[in-house]
Amino acid sequence: MTAQVLNGAEVAEHIKQTVAARVIELAELGVKPGLAVVMVGDNPASKVYVGSKVKTCQALGLHSEKYELPADTTTERLLQLVDDLNSRDEIDGILVQLPLPPQIETRRILEAVDPAKDVDGFHAYNVGKLVRGDDALVACTPAGVMALLDYYKVPLAGANAVVIGRSDIVGKPMAMLLLHRHATVTICHSRTKDLPAVARQADILIAAIGRTAMVTGDFVRDGAVVVDVGMNKATTEEEIRRIFSDAEQPKRMEDLSKRGYTLVGDVEPRTVAEKASWLTPVPGGVGPLTIAMLMKNTISAAEMRRLKRTA
Ligand code: GUN
Repeated sequence: MTAQVLNGAEVAEHIKQTVAARVIELAELGVKPGLAVVMVGDNPASKVYVGSKVKTCQALGLHSEKYELPADTTTERLLQLVDDLNSRDEIDGILVQLPLPPQIETRRILEAVDPAKDVDGFHAYNVGKLVRGDDALVACTPAGVMALLDYYKVPLAGANAVVIGRSDIVGKPMAMLLLHRHATVTICHSRTKDLPAVARQADILIAAIGRTAMVTGDFVRDGAVVVDVGMNKATTEEEIRRIFSDAEQPKRMEDLSKRGYTLVGDVEPRTVAEKASWLTPVPGGVGPLTIAMLMKNTISAAEMRRLKRTA
């Protein structure tokens, strides 16, 4: 078997079209949704993410503001900015790009964001709502994965879902969302015993560990649906030969010679595509969905706060 492609980029386009239509409706009501994106320091990956978030806002007709603070910014200074953004009516969503530099108390910052403007879904209030199964602003990446599974009508009720990775940003909220849809959910992590054997129980396998191509064919049951949340770099020809099929290698080698790396997920496509029924590509899988869901959350936040609509 060779896996079919779960085309995240295509699903993201659909979501963005819906968002663009809602932006027009809101404009008729005199509302222009606004997103503030804050980054501290000059982490190159964060710069790329923040840049594409702002660009997508512009493409869809949302108001956006970008704040780039120096690497030595204090917690107090960042709290001031968050307070200022909280108090401004034209700002509906506030996103503080993670990771923050070590001198900044990340938890204090995340808790300072008004929960009604917390488009990342990282505030304890929204996390609590999610755990209870109430309407909430939900973290964009796991919300995007759910949109992808729904678009392809992957059955969730009663399915064995295995989530590899227990981060606050992806693994934990992902597990909750799958649980609320009646999947039987297992969360795995670095201390899990015989991880490949646990992963092989999955009808739906979500890889969100942040380790290049760690999930090989040995982790995957025949016919499983595999979602790759990873975003890593392969930087050698040897890695590329190990990770990618013969058919894909020329393009990946070209990436390597042009940019010095090629993007790789947490899944090894060469071996996993032989087992899985469906697999997300990297790039073009989960990445575009994260941004699309951020736009959707910003619209929802605007509607909830300004029009008192529910999510
Ligand atoms: N860093 C990596 N992913 C994310 C995300 O979804 N939101 C924020 N704010 N920072 C991130």
